Amino acid sequence: MITFDFVSYMKEFSNLDNYDSKIEKIKYKLKTEDMTDWYDLNKSITEDVINDILDTSDYIKDNCDVFIIIGTGGSVLGAKGIIDAFKPYFKNNNPEIIFIGTSLSSTYLSDLIDYIKDKEVIINVISKSGTTLETNLYFDYLYKELTKKYESDELNKRIIVTTDDKEGKLRELVNKEGYKSFVLPSNIGGRYSTLTVVGLLPVAVFGLNIYEFIEGAKGLNKDMAFSHAIIRDALYREGKLVESFTAYEPKLLSLLELAKQLFAETQGKENKGILPVASINTADLHSLGQFYQEGAQILFETVININKTKDIYIEKYDKNLDELNMMISNQVAKSHVKNTTYSNFITMNELTPYNIGQLIYFLEISAATGAYLLNLNPFNQPGVNEYKTLVNKELLNENK
Ligand code: PA5
Repeated sequence: MITFDFVSYMKEFSNLDNYDSKIEKIKYKLKTEDMTDWYDLNKSITEDVINDILDTSDYIKDNCDVFIIIGTGGSVLGAKGIIDAFKPYFKNNNPEIIFIGTSLSSTYLSDLIDYIKDKEVIINVISKSGTTLETNLYFDYLYKELTKKYESDELNKRIIVTTDDKEGKLRELVNKEGYKSFVLPSNIGGRYSTLTVVGLLPVAVFGLNIYEFIEGAKGLNKDMAFSHAIIRDALYREGKLVESFTAYEPKLLSLLELAKQLFAETQGKENKGILPVASINTADLHSLGQFYQEGAQILFETVININKTKDIYIEKYDKNLDELNMMISNQVAKSHVKNTTYSNFITMNELTPYNIGQLIYFLEISAATGAYLLNLNPFNQPGVNEYKTLVNKELLNENK
């Protein structure tokens, strides 16, 4: 269960009813516009795909020590966010799951090659466009390395591609080489694809019940997401330009990264939008907290809490550690309000796939709605494409 509290540490707004008709129009857009299949959970994932994910995840678990997922941005952040949230702090999964493709670090790549030298490997390369430089580069490099270890027939069985149904270099490769492949639904963009095969295959390999994520999303009271979007919009129009997604459980950091990416790419365009940042407390209470408490009054927070994790009793305070953590988060919010750093609170009763599925769907709806409220297209990212085009041009020039 998740509870949403957008009142206790929020300012009082007098005129939010003005949003009613806008939200009705947005609900219609979410059902009818292009790139919105993620909104209809019966379209974003079907029983056939779920069965394929489950069979493939069994095959992966049985045949490798290391499962490497290559991709960047929306292609990987959801799965990484979920897996990091559920992974024990000091124990690796079996198979180990490694996400690569989010940097061009030569040290990282060379250490990785060294690390997997004596390990059985399966790769899942995920790219909707099939043209992302980092993803293609890592895939090509790793493929060549793995030819030293596996005969071509065996290697082909160790490559799984998730990409567009028809377009792109990866789909061409699948058609040519016969790799196992999944279709990234064409009417869903990268950052809205966590609750599709993109996010759910890695999560199934990790060992979580993927049905529960979908059930959680289906159980969301969508009005909560629309309310969040309205409050964010109202704050933005009063000069709040930064939103901190704040958690008091460090395991949620990667999920906050997903939130950052989702909101930044959805709303940061045409010189508009709220800059999303991530804070992990209590660490950031001793760094960013100073700014939130006394700095320029440009920000607000969306706090994501978990009510109960483990039973650890702290004798000195006669409290469970979770109680202490929750108490601190409330006191921090109370003190931040003095600087007009208001907070929305989202509290999961426990860390469960159901709750995380619901949280992700909530964030997706809030982000898309926020963009529509600013008259923006939520589903493109022209700024990102701009740099990709420049890089490709430069590479072409150099190779002439
Ligand atoms: O959300 C998005 O659409 C982007 O973040 C993409 O996921 C990211 O740029 C990677 O693109 P692709 O999946 O085409 O490789």
